[in-house]
Amino acid sequence: MADTRESWQTRLGFILAAVGSAVGLGNIWRFPWMASENGGAAFLVVYLGIVLLVGVPGLLGEFVIGRRSKRNPVGALSSLSDSKGWSAFGHVFVVTAVLLLSFYSVVGGWILRYFGASFTGAYFGNPGAYFSSINYGFEAVAFHVLFLFLTAAIVGFGVKGGIERATKVMMPAIVVLLVGLAAWGLTLDGASAGLAFYLSPDLGYLQTHFLDILPAAAGQALFTLSLGAGTMVTYASYLGEDRSLPVDGTFIAGLNTLVGVLAGFVVFPILFALGSGAGQPGAGAVFVSLAGAFAALPYGQVVAVVFFGVVALAALSSSISMLEIPVSFLVDEYGVSRRKATVAFTGLFLVTGSVNALSAQVFGFVAGTLVNLLLTGGLAGFLLFTGWVLGTDAVAELRSGAGDLGQRLATPWLYAVGVVLPLFLVFTLLSSLLPLLGVQLGTGAVVALAVGVVVVCGVTLRRPQSVL
Ligand code: TRP
Repeated sequence: MADTRESWQTRLGFILAAVGSAVGLGNIWRFPWMASENGGAAFLVVYLGIVLLVGVPGLLGEFVIGRRSKRNPVGALSSLSDSKGWSAFGHVFVVTAVLLLSFYSVVGGWILRYFGASFTGAYFGNPGAYFSSINYGFEAVAFHVLFLFLTAAIVGFGVKGGIERATKVMMPAIVVLLVGLAAWGLTLDGASAGLAFYLSPDLGYLQTHFLDILPAAAGQALFTLSLGAGTMVTYASYLGEDRSLPVDGTFIAGLNTLVGVLAGFVVFPILFALGSGAGQPGAGAVFVSLAGAFAALPYGQVVAVVFFGVVALAALSSSISMLEIPVSFLVDEYGVSRRKATVAFTGLFLVTGSVNALSAQVFGFVAGTLVNLLLTGGLAGFLLFTGWVLGTDAVAELRSGAGDLGQRLATPWLYAVGVVLPLFLVFTLLSSLLPLLGVQLGTGAVVALAVGVVVVCGVTLRRPQSVL
């Protein structure tokens, strides 16, 4: 283990880095993709509900584990529990982080490509054909590598000198530019139709498709808050005891949601301005429909440059938080220097990312279904750990540095993260996993199974300090 561990310089530095992690392609690229496949505004409603009820308390769960242990996810679970089983489980998060960055950096590469192409107008003639010509293949590999190198360069400079310094500049820039873009978007002719699609949910659809929307909305809510992979454990591990976790956590989730909603105010009016509606669904939605709109609108080219520039910044401030998970694991657990750890994992990502850049099938499966499953299961694991292994220690950690409100909320919060949230997450996980395995069960049976899983986990994991 390294003896002098890094830490954030300032409280604002931590908050901006965490918001930087949260705000990313999830808000701008993955959200419209998931929403267009799951009923538009109906999806938005379920997603926002989960962000509030599961995301915020879940975020605090990851914060508590990180700040208590001052370690990466693997070291955190093993040092706080003294158990080989948890240590083994911790390695799942390293795998999740690797899978995440492997597809994320491909999309990051597309964004860099479009940023450059916006200057020349390369995709303006035929956006659909342009996207199909660059999305998978050797050029996609090349741009993925470029994005990966940018990510590694920042992470290589460390927590203060790299991540904190970069996100402090990037985050304000993103917010200012997005507000500008949204203001421009609202002046367009189709703005009101776009906002209607975005903001008024079809309640009938919501009722009939609730169980289909649920796993996708939950996966997306966790994705956007960077939950379930250990990013927030890692970032909080660089944090002092004097910060209020509930205040910081609420602020981070709030700001992320705000930017997400703001991004919707940019994306949907632009799409509807051309009368093309929500446009083409799938992973190419932003790149085909939005890029097409830029080509046709007044000042479209300038706006395109600004838009893809903003998205590139947002993507980078997220990808560094993905790379930081395995890097902190090597640094903490094996005493490897940060530089070497960064180089080693960058080498791995060159390969794993390229597989995603070459195959649409691999990419679609990893970026969609697999990520939804891993994040949901990962967060359930963290929260069961918080409730049943840490117990009163978690309450004490949440209270440390938190004001009056934090004192009072801590115990109800523990019941939420130990019982209610795992039930919800396991139910969600099962309802998307079972059909994949070819098992068809009614809702009642899935609920019963989820209750069974959580009870068995709780009883097996329970330690003396657990108040549950
Ligand atoms: N939240 C980021 C986004 O919306 C992506 C991200 C960064 C992430 N770190 C993560 C997602 C950890 C899941 C887990 O783009």
